[in-house]
This record gives sequence, C-alpha cells and structure tokens, in this order.
Amino acid sequence: MITIAVDGPAASGKGTLSRQLAAHFGLHYLDTGSLYRAVGLKALNEGIDLAEENTVARIAAELDDDILDDPRLREPGVGEAASKVAMLTGVRNALLNYQREFAQRHPGAVLDGRDIATVVCPDADVKLFVTASVAERARRRYKELLQTDPLVKLEDIQAEIERRDARDCSRSAAPLHQAEDAHLLDTTNLDIETAMNAAVLLVKKAMAQQDLN
Ligand code: CDP
Repeated sequence: MITIAVDGPAASGKGTLSRQLAAHFGLHYLDTGSLYRAVGLKALNEGIDLAEENTVARIAAELDDDILDDPRLREPGVGEAASKVAMLTGVRNALLNYQREFAQRHPGAVLDGRDIATVVCPDADVKLFVTASVAERARRRYKELLQTDPLVKLEDIQAEIERRDARDCSRSAAPLHQAEDAHLLDTTNLDIETAMNAAVLLVKKAMAQQDLN
C-alpha cells in the first residue's frame, strides 16, 4: 500500500502531475478539489448563501458522484465558490471520511488538494508540494480555459487565482501550507516531463524504503 499526497495552490500543475503519477504506478487518483467545486456548484445552483455553514455542510454530506463529471466544475466562478465553501469547518469535516477511505484503496492512491499532507493523510508515504509563480499559474489556467471560452481574459484569471490563494492560505480551517516533511517542486521553469521525473524518483525511493521495512 502506498499513499501519495500532492498539495499546492491553484493551477500549479499538481493535477496533471498527480494523474500521471497514478497512471505510472497503477494507483487510484482523487482530485479532492472537485469535491469542493461540486459543493460550490450545487450551492450556486440552489441559490444558497455560500457562508450558510449548516446548509452547505448538508450539501457536502449528501454529495453524489454524478456531479463530479459536470464540465461546469472547471469554470472560474465555481473555483471561487469552492474556495468560499472550503473555509467552512462543517464542509471540510463532511468530506473528510470519503477522502480517507479513498486513500485506503488497494494498491494505493494519489490524492491532490490543499490539505492532503497536513490533514487528510498526515502519514502519507510521499508528500509533494507543487507550486509555481502566480503569473505562470495564471498563464497555464488561461490557456486551459481558452479551449472552451474564447472570451476569457488573462488578467481576470490572475485576479481570481490571487483571491483564491489569499483565501486558501489565510483560512483557519486546514489552510494551504507546505507540510514540514513535504518535498517542494517549483514548476515555474519546469516542464511536466521534468517535474514528473523528479516525482517518480521520490516515489520509487519511498517504495524501496517500504520493501526494506
Ligand atoms: O484546480 P485548482 O488548483 O484551480 O483548484 P482545485 O484543486 O480544484 O480546488 C478548488 C478550491 O477547493 C481551492 O481553491 C480550495 O479552496 C478548495 N480545496 C480545499 O480547500 N482543499 C482541498 N483538499 C482541495 C481543494
């Protein structure tokens, strides 16, 4: 069994890296951001005030898998709603069991998010903290969103990412920060192949260590 925790700010490349790592090692993959996005999207659809902790926590507790495939989850407005509902302890608690159970799937799992190494899986075998400069992250997210929305503006995307970073880092419930034992991967000047090679080496090292124990 191996658990790989990947954390980092918006559009840092952690999703691509995590998906590729899971495929490379034949592990399950959970994008935990999609859970918060799904709660945000449902709350928006139902016209619920995003700060209403009890109501939003109920949405989180009753979430079903269908909404996780909704393409609207990737919209910037939904990312922003996700970061607002993610501030609520009741919402985070409601999503915790699902994430921890997922991490137990055989033969192992890669989970990405903000608090995987610090709260969800503090005993993960490998912890990565993936980051990049805000300008580079905004550029990457802009390129991604342009494929479905030709009117998207780079400056709006950068502003949305900055607002979300500030909210995610300053909240009291499970704020985004690098775990002490996490490896830092700054991808500002790294292509995905180089970042992937570095991550694969760290996972192989952890696997060799497990074999020794
Ligand atoms: O894909 P991107 O990096 O833009 O964001 P995401 O991973 O889909 O996460 C959306 C929002 O959910 C974040 O801005 C966080 O506020 C929240 N989130 C969280 O609080 N904890 C997690 N483990 C994952 C996401």
